[in-house]
Amino acid sequence: MSYNIPSHLAKFDELIPCHVPFVEGKVKGHQDRTNYSIIGPGVVEDTKQGVKIAEEHGFNIGAVSTAPNNGSGSHSHTTAEVFLVNSGPMRFYWGPDGRDGEVILNRGDVASFPTNVFRGFENVSDSEALMFVILGENDPGVITWTPKILKEAKDSGMVLLDDNSLIDLDKQNIPDGRKLLEPLQEKDLSKFDHYTLENIKRFVIRYTDVSKYIVDDQHYNSNSIINYIDQFQIHEQQFEPHIPHQTGFGLALLRGIKAHIHPYSLDCSEVYLCLDGEWKITCDEQKVVIGPRDIFSVPKNSLRSVRQVSEAEGNLYIIRQKK
Ligand SMILES: [Fe+2]
Repeated sequence: MSYNIPSHLAKFDELIPCHVPFVEGKVKGHQDRTNYSIIGPGVVEDTKQGVKIAEEHGFNIGAVSTAPNNGSGSHSHTTAEVFLVNSGPMRFYWGPDGRDGEVILNRGDVASFPTNVFRGFENVSDSEALMFVILGENDPGVITWTPKILKEAKDSGMVLLDDNSLIDLDKQNIPDGRKLLEPLQEKDLSKFDHYTLENIKRFVIRYTDVSKYIVDDQHYNSNSIINYIDQFQIHEQQFEPHIPHQTGFGLALLRGIKAHIHPYSLDCSEVYLCLDGEWKITCDEQKVVIGPRDIFSVPKNSLRSVRQVSEAEGNLYIIRQKK
């Protein structure tokens, strides 16, 4: 089978950053951050953002790196949004005014936010913090901002037109005949869902709690698995998910010093995302190694195997398109 391995590999250090990805990109508290579109364009409003792997996967993966006290303002999605915290702590808050609840998450924590609920996050550490974000579907649509964020953005010189295109008023006027996106009215806000802290906790799995979730796959004591979302299968064993969301993709973690999966093939999209360790991936006859923060999109139908090769324990996220 012929495919070009480098076009499937996203080394984190080689990604193209975007510094003003959204309308709020010049607002204090939201401006010191960098976005990366790794698989698909995601929901970024700056159409000039570079996309590392453009091929449709059934989901999108991006990353966001934020300075202390910075993050995303309150917004809602129409498809799944799953956060993989790479470094934190990161504070998540939700509800139209951001006061329905909050959780503070750290490295290795996973949170799946439901659709139709406002959520935001901020880096509450004293150094740069990084998260990967998985969005559902090939086209995750547009995000909906709270009226407060759109007002602050406009005051900073950034607006959205009614087709959701982003205009930086320092560089461009509003084109003739075009209208601005109208902020939501009070009655529109009431259509968004509210969640208590207890509700949201069902969709959060903390790395410090892994002993509650982790399963040995009984494969020579080499592999431990946490299955977050959707059914996961390796070596003909099934693992049930801990998060009940239907996202259109599966998310699991493979962990161990000698963790590995023997050759198998899949005819849907599959992505490996390295949290730590060094993972040697063999695709048919070709080999590639990924390290922390790197992503590899496994060519469809290739015979693939993966093995953790560093001396320390490794953790690898596996994201699979649900068929
Ligand atoms: Fe989001």
